[in-house]
Amino acid sequence: MGAQAPATAPNGVQRERDPSGGAAAAEVKQLVELTWRQQCTTCHGPTGRGDGQMGPMVQAPDLTLADWQGKTTNGEMATVIKMGRNRMPAFNLPDPVVAGLVSRIRTLKAR
Ligand code: HEC
Repeated sequence: MGAQAPATAPNGVQRERDPSGGAAAAEVKQLVELTWRQQCTTCHGPTGRGDGQMGPMVQAPDLTLADWQGKTTNGEMATVIKMGRNRMPAFNLPDPVVAGLVSRIRTLKAR
């Protein structure tokens, strides 16, 4: 039967709207904060200066240095976080959390 396909496409209802967007963003932010405190500050210290308990032992770099912050890109930071480098362990974190950590580190930039 050569029926005509009914026009099911709900026209005009296709606004790019992610209903969970707001909630997810808030959750990610929380997760980022938690991750930073629980998994990063041991080496990097609460303010990223490399003065966490294990900071001296692994020679964690000072992430607040304006010089370094100016040179490094968000992509480079994300790669180091995800892949690790030397004594920096790799963190298998969801991309939004990694991106959040990068932004978080950007806020640490010194004076
Ligand atoms: C076991 C200690 C340790 C932990 C835990 C750790 N780091 Fe690191 N991190 C290091 C060390 C050491 C380096 C320097 C790596 C190198 O030799 O280049 C580093 C480097 C970095 C860099 C790159 C600095 C650069 O020169 O580009 C970033 C960004 C970073 N860490 C973020 C994080 C974040 C975010 C976390 C938590 C998810 C974290 N680190 C957890 C030890 C640590």
